[in-house]
Parts: sequence; structure tokens; C-alpha cells
Amino acid sequence: MNKVLQLGSEYFASQFGGAPDGLWSAPGRVNLIGEHTDYNDGFAFPIAIDKRTTVAARAREDRLLRVTSSSFPGMVEVNLDDVDPDALTGWAAYPLGVAWAMSLAAAGGASGLSGMDLALTSDVPAGAGLSSSAAVECAAALALSDLWGLGLDRPDLARIGQLAENRVVGAPTGIMDQSASLLGEPDHGILLDCQSLKTESVALGFAGAGVGLLVIDTRTSHSHADGGYASRRRSCEDGARRLGVGSLRALGPDDLPRAAAQLDGQTYRRVRHVITENQRVLDTVAALRTSGAAAIGPFLNESHVSMREDFEISTAELDLAVSSAQELGAIGARMTGGGFGGAALALVRNGDAGTVAEGIARDFAQAGYTAPHIFPVTASEGARREL
Ligand code: GLA
Repeated sequence: MNKVLQLGSEYFASQFGGAPDGLWSAPGRVNLIGEHTDYNDGFAFPIAIDKRTTVAARAREDRLLRVTSSSFPGMVEVNLDDVDPDALTGWAAYPLGVAWAMSLAAAGGASGLSGMDLALTSDVPAGAGLSSSAAVECAAALALSDLWGLGLDRPDLARIGQLAENRVVGAPTGIMDQSASLLGEPDHGILLDCQSLKTESVALGFAGAGVGLLVIDTRTSHSHADGGYASRRRSCEDGARRLGVGSLRALGPDDLPRAAAQLDGQTYRRVRHVITENQRVLDTVAALRTSGAAAIGPFLNESHVSMREDFEISTAELDLAVSSAQELGAIGARMTGGGFGGAALALVRNGDAGTVAEGIARDFAQAGYTAPHIFPVTASEGARREL
């Protein structure tokens, strides 16, 4: 048994005694490209990363849900009949929110479901924009679906995780994070069409091309329940309405002159980001297929400029991480995730990873910023049952 699974089982035993009925895990994600496109019915291209949350679970004879996490003190208990989405707070809102959202999908609602003991462990850094919350939601969703015998498929599980996040945690996020965590494959990116909800695994070929991804966690906070994310989403919806379309997905680069003529300057910039970002996702996938990983750098760099100038969700720390990676020879770099803090990613030649990481750390020290946490990530398998 690998170390993470052993820790997960041992932690369960220390909290509840005995062995769990099973152990499930789900990864965090890094979005390669396609930011703030998911809730606009657009395209995104994330990977699942090699950092995972585990949920060890055992069904109970009564109707009690008990959850505990090795990252937070205290056990949270609630009766299945009393799970109120509006009353859930803190870390336990994620697994319990999933239980609530899943009970809506069960025939007969919560009444036919058994109680459950759930013990969570994780090595996905929290607050770094790597979707540690989606990792919890997806591991819990898979565990509950299996033990409750609901047989939900992965798109259903992604929607349940998203519903928990939207309703219980109060963040108006899209479907990307949960889709990446559930559908990831080693060495592949997941091309998501958030309109049709069709997904396609696209080979990255990073190892063959001698390149890899570095994550630069700026360790500056980001919270999607705060105003910035929601206000960007409102601008996009407003722009779509004023341009007479159901979502910005209906528009392409040819519509930009009309958008410029009809919208105020700020809404236009928000719309331009989404329209051009959708195109960059498609261009990235096409470049990967025809020319290989070393060819996607310009799209990553342009995506960052668009988020900095048009969508205005970058920060001084993220900008420095990106510019310093680029100056140190990265193939491409951009902030990743919702923005307002969190992490950037850099695509680097394997031989350059050390110098790029050291150089960024030096530039952060010189700027007087908190030392960033810099580490490599590889595309990994999505949520799965481990034991
Ligand atoms: C967060 C949200 C996602 C997505 C990204 C931005 O990660 O959870 O749904 O909107 O921000 O691309």
C-alpha cells in the first residue's frame, strides 16, 4: 500500500476505530488554459495533478454522518435528516454539502440512505488555486455514490460537486474543477466543452518533449466566495445579454467589433477575454497535436496578458511569477485558476526547472514578497477507488 493510502486508513482507524469499508481518492487540478470560460459555456483544458485527497468511509447502521479531517481539529456530526445546505460552514461544508447534493439525486431522497463515517486526508495545498475543494468533493462523491449504491456516472458526480460548491459553500463556480478531478488521465489534458459537457482526453506528450510543469504558489490568498469572481461572472452574463446571446460561447473573434461598439469599455474587456480565451484553448490543443508541447508557450503567455489587462484578475505576485519565469527561459507561463491570488504555472524544459524555480524565488525575495512555494506537477489519473 502506498504512503498516502496507508495514512488514510490509519487516520480512519484513529478516528473511528477499525477498518473502513473502502478508500477513495481524487486529485487537485491545474488549468493549463481556458480561464473563466467554464461558466460562459466555453472551453477549458485542465489536468488532474499528482496531489490527492483521500476519503476513507464506512457505512453506519444509523442515520448519522460523521466527518473528520486530518487538516482540521474536531469531528462534525449531523443526522442525514437534518442536513441543511444553508447551515453548513467551514471545511465540513464540502463533504457534507456533497452528501446533501447527492441525497437529491437518490430515489426517495435522503430517507433511504444510511449514515456514514468519513475520514479525510489530503496533500493538495489548500488556498493555492489547485482545487483542493474539488478534490474533497469528488473523493467524497465517489465514496458516497459507491457505498450508497447509487451508481452515478462521472458527469453526474461532477454536477453534484459543483452544486455543493455553489449552494453550500456559496461560490458561483463552473464545472471545470470537478470535471478535471474526476476525468483526469496520466499524461493527458482534458478538453472540456462546457456547453455540450463533452470531454476529450488529449495527449500532452510532455515527457517525450522533455518539458514539464512548475506550479508557483504565491501563497497569497484567493477566495471564490468573495466578490471578485462573482462580479466577473456578472459582467460576462451582462455582456452576453446586451449582445443578444444566451452565453458568450455563441460569440467568436469576428463578433469583437460589434461588442466594442455596443458595450462599455469594462464589459467589453471582460467579453474580449472570454472570446479570445476560448480560441486560445482550441489553438493550444491544435498546436499540441500538430507541433508538440514546446509549441504552446505563446498561448499560455497571451492568456496571462488577457487575464491581467482584460479580465483584471491577476495580482502583482502572479505577474512577477509569470514575468520572471518567462525571463528565465520558460516556454510559457500564466496565472492559473480563479485569480486574485493563488498560483501561476510555467511550462519549462526539464533541464531548466531548477534555475527557473531558483530565479523566481530570488525575484520574490528581492521584491519583498512572501517566499513562493514552487513544485513540479504531472498529469495524473482522476478520482478512483483505492481499496
Ligand atoms: C475557479 C472555479 C472554476 C473556474 C476557474 C476559472 O477555479 O472553480 O469553475 O471558473 O475558477 O477558470
